[in-house]
Amino acid sequence: MNKVDLNVNIGGLELQNPVMTASGTFGYAGEFEELVDLNRLGGIVVKGVSLQPSPGNPPPRIVETASGMLNAIGLENVGLEAFIKEKVPFLKKLSTPVFANIYGKTIDEYAKLAERIEWIDEVTGIEVNISCPNVKAGGVAFGVEPEAAFRVVDAVRNRTNKPVMVKLSPNVTDITQIAKSAENAGADSVSLINTLTGMAIDIESRRPKLANITGGLSGPAIKPVALRMVWQVAQNVKIPVVGIGGIMTAQDALEFLMAGASAIQVGTANFINTHATMDIIEGIERFMKEKKISKITDIIGSLEV
Ligand SMILES: Cc1cc2nc3c(=O)[nH]c(=O)nc-3n(C[C@H](O)[C@H](O)[C@H](O)COP(=O)(O)O)c2cc1C
Repeated sequence: MNKVDLNVNIGGLELQNPVMTASGTFGYAGEFEELVDLNRLGGIVVKGVSLQPSPGNPPPRIVETASGMLNAIGLENVGLEAFIKEKVPFLKKLSTPVFANIYGKTIDEYAKLAERIEWIDEVTGIEVNISCPNVKAGGVAFGVEPEAAFRVVDAVRNRTNKPVMVKLSPNVTDITQIAKSAENAGADSVSLINTLTGMAIDIESRRPKLANITGGLSGPAIKPVALRMVWQVAQNVKIPVVGIGGIMTAQDALEFLMAGASAIQVGTANFINTHATMDIIEGIERFMKEKKISKITDIIGSLEV
């Protein structure tokens, strides 16, 4: 077998392969230009953007933990206007679909962001972050309650014709309820999971290792939880599911695809191996050739229980 078909479809959008980058771990794409072939990626999700620029939380904001990391960046970002002026022009060069990840303190802010981004040709789709655990207002508040999730997604949906992907929080009792709300409000896909709330303590000073006290856990430590949630959500919604959480290798990615994810996002792995996304694409191809699987869509949801 010489060639395998890696094409996937997430809510009407064709990706040349299922490997995307996760928001906040890949800058605004330009930062990785020298490190990976950006046009080989299935999709790129850029750092979360809010209406106003934000300095984020005070440092220390990152701590390494067993098989993972805690971050409490608090959505530091350049703000929508600087994003449009300074970051979007680079995206013109790319053939890969780019998602802007948006975050607001109120439903109105999400709506305004969607309204503006609708007119940016270089941005293919919008990932709605209703799951950031590290900000005081908004963010995760909309991702833990089905009715609130519905209202945010509905507001965004009414302002844009671009593909809308809704990013879900694992810090909930039943993630399938939030996924269904997003679907009912018109989301084209859901992506999960964002980070799990955690903390770490310095026993000498008896102080939290993060200035924010708590942070979001990511990396291999969260993979089994993410995989379980992707599997559950995939059985409960009709829209495509994009799997995120501790994906470091092609094997990890294949597990998510088998659990029902139509695509995956690579996050923390980018900090450890800047070439991780390329390695994962190649590894998936190798697996398919070895197993004589010609279409990746035959792998999606193929888990037998
Ligand atoms: C440093 C850092 C910054 C992040 N920033 C964002 C963000 O701006 N918006 C968002 O939706 N998710 C953000 N995330 C969450 C990731 O996109 C991803 O959902 C999470 O890290 C789990 O995937 P991973 O285990 O592969 O890293 C961030 C994660 C990290 C580690």
